[in-house]
Parts: sequence; C-alpha cells; structure tokens
Amino acid sequence: MAISRRNFLKAAGFTGAALVTGCTPTGKTSGTDPKAQSEALGNILSEAQKTHAQIFNMSGYCAPKIENVRIGFIGTGNRGSAAVERMSYIEGVNIKAICDVRPEKAQAAKERIKTTGHEAILYTDGDEDWMNVCKRDDIDLIYLCTHWELHAPIAIYAMEQGKHVALEVPAATTVEDCWKLVETSEKTKKHCVILENCCYDFFELLTLNMARQGFFGELIHCEGAYIHDILESFVNKEKRYDYWRLKENAVRNGNLYPTHGLGPVCQIMNINRGDKMEYLTSMASNDFNTNNLVKEAAKKDPYFNQYIDKPFRGNMNTTTIRTKLGRTILLQHDVTSPRPYSRLHTVSGTKAFAQKYPLPGKISIGHGGFLPEDEYEKLNKQYTPAIINKIGDLAQKVGGHGGMDFMMDWRLIDCLRNGLPVDMDVYDAALWSVMGPLSEWSIANRSNSIEIPDFTNGSWATNKPVDISLAVGGTTGVQESAIKGNTNQINI
Ligand SMILES: NC(=O)c1ccc[n+]([C@@H]2O[C@H](COP(=O)([O-])OP(=O)(O)OC[C@H]3O[C@@H](n4cnc5c(N)ncnc54)[C@H](O)[C@@H]3O)[C@@H](O)[C@H]2O)c1
Repeated sequence: MAISRRNFLKAAGFTGAALVTGCTPTGKTSGTDPKAQSEALGNILSEAQKTHAQIFNMSGYCAPKIENVRIGFIGTGNRGSAAVERMSYIEGVNIKAICDVRPEKAQAAKERIKTTGHEAILYTDGDEDWMNVCKRDDIDLIYLCTHWELHAPIAIYAMEQGKHVALEVPAATTVEDCWKLVETSEKTKKHCVILENCCYDFFELLTLNMARQGFFGELIHCEGAYIHDILESFVNKEKRYDYWRLKENAVRNGNLYPTHGLGPVCQIMNINRGDKMEYLTSMASNDFNTNNLVKEAAKKDPYFNQYIDKPFRGNMNTTTIRTKLGRTILLQHDVTSPRPYSRLHTVSGTKAFAQKYPLPGKISIGHGGFLPEDEYEKLNKQYTPAIINKIGDLAQKVGGHGGMDFMMDWRLIDCLRNGLPVDMDVYDAALWSVMGPLSEWSIANRSNSIEIPDFTNGSWATNKPVDISLAVGGTTGVQESAIKGNTNQINI
C-alpha cells in the first residue's frame, strides 16, 4: 500500500486538533484573489503565531559519545547514493542499512561501497519499509535523502525510535512540521541535524571565521540565495523520483528552497544564538517559464497535460527578514530562469564587506572596490578555519560540490563520536526551513509581513555560537586509500 502523508501521520499518532493537514497550501499565484488566498493559508499564520514551552534545550546539547556510528540511509537517489559513498570513507562509520522504494537505487548505492567493507542490508519492500530501518536497535543515525514531503514524517518517527537524524534540505515544508521536529528532538534528546552543506563551503567558512574574529565589525546585512537553472530537470524522468520537484513547484508559491543561502549567513549572524529573526516579507514575480516548459513537454508526453496552467511558483522570489538586533537578510530563490548559478553570500558589516557571487569570493573594506588578489590571499591564509586546514584537501579529493559535502559529513560524525554539540541543530533546521511556508503566506497576502516563530523559546539570547575552532574533537580519521575521487553528485 502506498503510504500517503496523511495516513502516515495518522499511523504515527499525529492526529487531533494539532494536525493541520492543510499546511501544504493551494499556492495560487499572487495577485489573483488575496482574500481567498489569505483564508487558504490561514493555518500558516496561526501556526506561526504559536509559542511552545521548551522541554529541553537542544542547542549546545552534548549527546553521549558514539564511538562507532551505525547509519541507516533512507532515500538513495541522486543525493543519497553520493552520501552513502562519502560516509563510507569516514572512520568510525558503519553503514548498516540502505533503503529506497526503488530497489535498483538501493542496490546501486550499495555497489558504491563494495570496496570499503560495509555490510549494508537493503530495505526495498515498498513505501513503508523505512520504518523497519528506524526500528532497528543497532542503528544510531538515520541519514535521510528522500523528496521533501517525507523529510519531517520520517525524521519524527526516527527520533521517536531513539535515533539521531540527519536530514536533507529543507527539513520540513509546513510550519506545523517545523514545530513537531523541535518538540520531538527536545522530548527524545535526539539530534535533528539539517544537512546544509553550503555552511561548509570554503568561502562561507572563511567569512564565518572572519566574522567570529571581528573582521566585519558589527554585522548589518547579509544576503543569500538559491538561484540555479534546473528548469529542464522538472520534466526529466531520470532526474528525480516521481517528478517530485515539478509537483512542489506546481502548487506552492514561495521560497521553497531557502536553506542553501540562509544557513551560512545565519551562522555568521549568530541567529538562534545571540540574535533571532522577527518577521519577514516576501514578493514573487509571476511564472513566465515553467508553464511554457510543461506545455512543450506535454506535446511529447501526454503525462504532462495534467500540469498545464497549474498555479506555478513565480520564477523569482525575494524575501526580506529583520532580526531582533535590527539587522536584515535578503533571500532570493529562482530555479526556473536561464541565468548563472548564485547563492549571493553577501556579508556587510560596519568595517568590511564580502561577496561570493559572481565567483570568485571577494573582500572589500571600503567603497573603493574589492581587495586585490594578493591582499585577499593574505586574509585567506590568516582566517582559514581549522576545519579547512584539517580536512579541506581530503574533502576536495572526495568531491561532492567541491568538497563541502564531505566536510559536512566528517564534521557530523566527529561531533557524534566526540559527544559534541552539532553545528546545525533542530532549531536551525526548523527556522531555515520555515521560510518556505512563511514566504507563501506573505506572497498570498500582498507581501504583508509575517511573524517568524522563535523555535528556541527565548533561549536564543543565551545559546552559544557555533564553535568552528576544532579546539575539541577533530579526532576522526578518513580511509584515504579507499577514496575513488570526485564522488558523482549532480550540481545543487
Ligand atoms: N544539499 C544539497 O546539495 C542537495 C542536492 C540535491 C538534492 N538535495 C536534497 O536531497 C533530497 C533528495 O534529492 P534527490 O535529487 O536525490 O532526489 P531523488 O528523487 O533522486 O531521490 C529521492 C529518493 O527517495 C526515494 N524514495 C521515495 N519515496 C521513498 C520511500 N517511501 N522510502 C524510501 N525511499 C523513497 C526515491 O526512490 C529516490 O531514489 C531532496 O530533499 C533535495 O532537496 C540536496
């Protein structure tokens, strides 16, 4: 039986007044009928206005050390199968299970670790076999790379079964699920780590360390984005399971993929750890591209007829956020226009400025322009953080978005093995992901502002910033001789 999201939540006991299954909104394009949209998305507003009593503060939480981290992978398509291979190179990792609803994908992922001595059991017996992975008592970490709709339900179930979870971006697509992730992580004291690999890209880490050392002075404004022309892939059967990305973009109008641009700047601004987001406002263009693509695709394959004239997400989304300390963030999202890839990554402070896109990253200390290459290199040397010095070269050898994927995985395992707080905890997962539904509400309401929930319940004021010094930990080795190099990974 195919498990629907509603059935699963019911099976897992998520029923009653708190269950708002309408959280995935109708997503009509902005400007059609604001009143009707406002009503349709009203549950987003009410969920966003919720508060909660913190059960336990997961920020800075040191879980018991796990010397040998036993992992179960769920969802081994493009992203998951590359993760299986990367993880197999890290010492102190044991891959116990690989689960995918498509048996050939699970098998292919297993093929990638033949040479590294892992004995993964395959779970391919239908839509619900992932539950059997979560139930195993010899697994410590569920590494989750399915399509978006299953992220929160599987993560919640896994934590309930006593597993730490690392889950792909975004962690959830509704405000309600963001709250559930927080509450479950606090209740179970299990980490819920969002796999925001862009936090581990080289320039992002450099600017994080520069910010920590005061190079930018006080931070005023940051920018992030996910601008990547992946339009054609929406109608390519080979690219994604069951056209899930087309489906998301056909019914939701907002910043659906906020975390790549947002994660790094939140760490730089100490959001959830010294500052907090207060409200956002979001605006979207109309769709000028996706419907045309679908009409063309339908000429060759009648399957796509059902998508013609759907209320597709407006191509460009621009969201602005204001923080408690009076700082601002600009966030953009466009995956359906022909333009160069960009995550913006802009950091503006009282003393200096940094910008990564267009490439390469650049630093400025005034209106006269960017520093010349030799001065940039001096700063690069001075401020390169310990994690890059330790693992950067190896990470580049493994590959996966230039190495950032491997640095992320290595750091996650090192934190679990040493009982250290994770860099990206459940509050980050919830906050960075909640931009999706909140931006949908704002767009449907003529860009009116919406309150951003404080998932930390006030502990943001005293939570400690992410520690990237490697003063503790850093003890996890890598099976260098096994590295095949350039882990096959589609561009993000
Ligand atoms: N961080 C990054 O750089 C990055 C890059 C690409 C994708 N992603 C994220 O990774 C996730 C997966 O993306 P993808 O491109 O690999 O998609 P994909 O469609 O290739 O992979 C998803 C996999 O989940 C499997 N699946 C579906 N239902 C399942 C079920 N009930 N049980 C077990 N497996 C099931 C599918 O068969 C498929 O193999 C998404 O959340 C995406 O946003 C992140």
